[in-house]
Amino acid sequence: MLSNLKAQAPDKILMLIEEFKADTRQGKIDLGVGVYKDPQGVTPVMRAVKAAEQRIWETQTTKSYTVLAGEAEYRNSMAQMILGEVPADRLASVATVGGTGAIRQALELARMANPDVTVFVSNPTWPNHLSIMKFMGLPMVEYAYFDAETRGVDFEAMKADLAKAKKDDIVLLHGCCHNPTGANLTIEQWAEVAEILEKSGAIPMIDLAYQGFGDGLDADAAGTRLIASRLPQVLIAASCSKNFGIYRERTGILMVLTNDTTTRDMTQGSLAFLNRQTYSFPPDHGARIVGTILTDNDLRADWAAELEDVRNTMLGLRTQLASELRQLSGSDRFDFIEHHRGMFSRLGATPAQVETLKRDAGIYMVGDSRLNIAGLNSDTVPVLARAIVEAGI
Ligand code: LMR
Repeated sequence: MLSNLKAQAPDKILMLIEEFKADTRQGKIDLGVGVYKDPQGVTPVMRAVKAAEQRIWETQTTKSYTVLAGEAEYRNSMAQMILGEVPADRLASVATVGGTGAIRQALELARMANPDVTVFVSNPTWPNHLSIMKFMGLPMVEYAYFDAETRGVDFEAMKADLAKAKKDDIVLLHGCCHNPTGANLTIEQWAEVAEILEKSGAIPMIDLAYQGFGDGLDADAAGTRLIASRLPQVLIAASCSKNFGIYRERTGILMVLTNDTTTRDMTQGSLAFLNRQTYSFPPDHGARIVGTILTDNDLRADWAAELEDVRNTMLGLRTQLASELRQLSGSDRFDFIEHHRGMFSRLGATPAQVETLKRDAGIYMVGDSRLNIAGLNSDTVPVLARAIVEAGI
């Protein structure tokens, strides 16, 4: 039986981690996987996370099972962080194995509710969105998103494509800090998207993996909040990997907004059922850390302050890189780097140029020329800028 298995194509983002490790050159630069690194190249454990872990260690009396949906403290505080005001009468939610687990459960739920569901995805999107849907056999349609000329959003083309989604199709949107491009919708554009979906009855599914990494915790949730206030049914898959820096704890949540309490209860039951079928109880440690931080004023303030530092560090690197490139290239064609938000920017280089950067300069980025801004520091920005110009990008 097992000899029937076929070799799986390696994940392009994760493959880079191994390639980078194997490179013995001094001065190599890792701009691949989306992990925050401080200027010393370390992915730190946040202060509030350490403090919460200590508190849990001191007070936790059992490791017995929690509940299928995950702890209410975690789910409620996440709903408050993401939605601002929690519409409890409409909200079903479940803790998941990371943000990816939330995406998978959201798609499973959509398929349970509508076996003919088609999922509309931005072109481009996080490659694992496509991979998961392909594996599940879900029909997908790409909608225009990125304008390769301006490196911004091609909003007119996006709207035209979104209008093709039918009632009960899913439209997958990035809540903020679009991965892989770094180009994002304005709040006015979010309102237009809401209007299109209101008309068609297509269901928005928002992937929110970088809240706090763009313009701030509330600003980054503004599009999601607008959609939540306008549309009767909304799926939100959120991750705590980046904004709490707890990548390996696999902490995520799927929130589903419904139009009435009967549907909410049915949805809540279906979410718990999906967890049970997939992995039974969701992991608790990361969720407990997050719940502890978000429900304690001091820990929350300290966490938010550290997250703000992380965000500002990335913004500073964006400004520095755009400015170096302006000088070296004698043009403003890289200014989009300063306007993009989040961890990523799509540079717009060809695969051959990306390969050249790797071969000649030991600079690793994803093949579509997505670079992780947080992989830089003030010393490596000029190195990257020079390599970009030398590679003829
Ligand atoms: C990324 O896009 O690099 C991150 O979301 C990590 C991952 O799992 O791909």
